Amino acid sequence: MTQFTRRNFIQVALAATGSVAVSTPLQAMTRPQLPSDVVFEHGVASGDPQQDAVILWTRATPAAGTEPAGPTRVTWELSSDPEFSEIVRRGGVETDLARDYTVKVDVQGLQPNTRYYYRFIGASEQSPLGRTKTLPEAGIEQLKLAVFSCSNYPAGHFNAYQLAADRDDWDAVLHLGDYIYEYGAGGYATARAAEIGRALPEDNSGELLTLTDYRKRYALYRTDKGLQALHAAAPFIAVWDDHEISNDTWKAGAENHSQDEGDFFARRAAAVQAYYEWLPIRPPMGERNPQIYRRFSFGDLLDLHMLDTRVIGRDKQVDFQGYMDSQGNFDGRAFTAALADPTRSLLGKPQLQWLQESLSASTGYWQLLGQQVLMGKMLLPTEMMTSFHRGGSEDRTAELIALKAASLQGKPITDEQRARLEQVVPYNLDAWDGYAVEREAVYELVKGLGKNLVVVAGDTHNAWYSHLHDARGDMVGVEFATPSVTSPGMETYLKLSGKAAAELATGMSVLVDELQYCNLHQRGYMALTFRRDAVEVEWNYVDNIDSPEFVAVDSHRVVHRPV
Ligand SMILES: [Fe+2]
Repeated sequence: MTQFTRRNFIQVALAATGSVAVSTPLQAMTRPQLPSDVVFEHGVASGDPQQDAVILWTRATPAAGTEPAGPTRVTWELSSDPEFSEIVRRGGVETDLARDYTVKVDVQGLQPNTRYYYRFIGASEQSPLGRTKTLPEAGIEQLKLAVFSCSNYPAGHFNAYQLAADRDDWDAVLHLGDYIYEYGAGGYATARAAEIGRALPEDNSGELLTLTDYRKRYALYRTDKGLQALHAAAPFIAVWDDHEISNDTWKAGAENHSQDEGDFFARRAAAVQAYYEWLPIRPPMGERNPQIYRRFSFGDLLDLHMLDTRVIGRDKQVDFQGYMDSQGNFDGRAFTAALADPTRSLLGKPQLQWLQESLSASTGYWQLLGQQVLMGKMLLPTEMMTSFHRGGSEDRTAELIALKAASLQGKPITDEQRARLEQVVPYNLDAWDGYAVEREAVYELVKGLGKNLVVVAGDTHNAWYSHLHDARGDMVGVEFATPSVTSPGMETYLKLSGKAAAELATGMSVLVDELQYCNLHQRGYMALTFRRDAVEVEWNYVDNIDSPEFVAVDSHRVVHRPV
């Protein structure tokens, strides 16, 4: 934990409040100074709800032809009804170029478990109407969360956001990161961008490196109507993954950051600043500090621990290729030893310590970890992985799936066949599988405290449901992973048709011990309903992302009762 001196407490307090207007009920509700002539081109948003507070957000840019010498001013209003006949609170707030004309108000002194409506008002224009909700205290019977990750603008239209925005029963929306992507035109998942009307604009078509670059990318993403609609419909609780900074970020670098792109920490600071400006978030240590992990308590039903597995403590990823020689031989022993190194960390010691304290102090019936990368063991036969890394010329996936199915049905298999099934390696070393010692520490912590654990993850672009087991084989919880909003999934990497991807998904659930369900080719989001007797999960998919016209298809539902 950070040790506070009086001096750094004041610095943190200033950083925390310096750019966010705080509104308490004690402040008089007088009509503020006349607002400036502004336009609201990026909608409204709310987030980080508490029992008595919520962050309201908009962007108020000077209207065309006006060039303010100083800050611009807007009025905001919060009401208990959508007609604004009962205004609960009103205030004025200023913004300027130094924060990209973004506006944040931390409205405090509100009622728990209450729906509010809000809007911003300029001299000649009003923002769209927003709807939000405070967190409950004890006594609620159920709550509903929508879970998202990986919205990549050039890859498609954000129809998954729109699909969730069309419902009005969310307590909150969890965003697990990859809210934006840093690549330039021609980069990852941009091949069809022009064809589907999602090309990057000329003034923001390079890879993001500077504060201006990151800000412009957020502004572009926030023109998407589906994203605007969802922000206006429910409060977000968001955390970044890697692409808010750069691909495969770790604590001191990233796969997609090279020396000729400048200092990594300067780039990271720019990325973090833009994220905090554009997301309706209350950074726990102020708007300059990359410590983002924080807790939300939904009465006595659920505690949500939002984790950062990217920026604050992650050691560099182990690289599978680094253990293959030029002949394509894999050094399994050295590879396994590297993964078992007990000093490697994903959360970093301070965050792990915080999680321990946070879980211990939490009294909710369910404990939910909101985080980025898959926690379940995604172990595949070594021969499948080495074949894949050699270019996939000798794919024996179907043969291995058939063998595993036979073994599970109790049919006889030879020792040699058994060895082929039992020699396994993790397929993704950027996930918890690459940090197995620390994962086990989290499992032991949860088991020791006797908590009902649910983990949610994003990052992979596909849907997954796993039963989580510790090293002793005891089930410690479940993991539900959300498909991407638009980023391509396994079907693209493996060049599979929808039908072939569906067949492989069935096979994967046979081959991977912890895996219960997966979907390898459809885009969408995940809806979670928590009650005391069960958590119900619905993976909701859209039929296309090539156009903003879409329909919902093929939803899949699972009910999990406490272990
Ligand atoms: Fe992603």
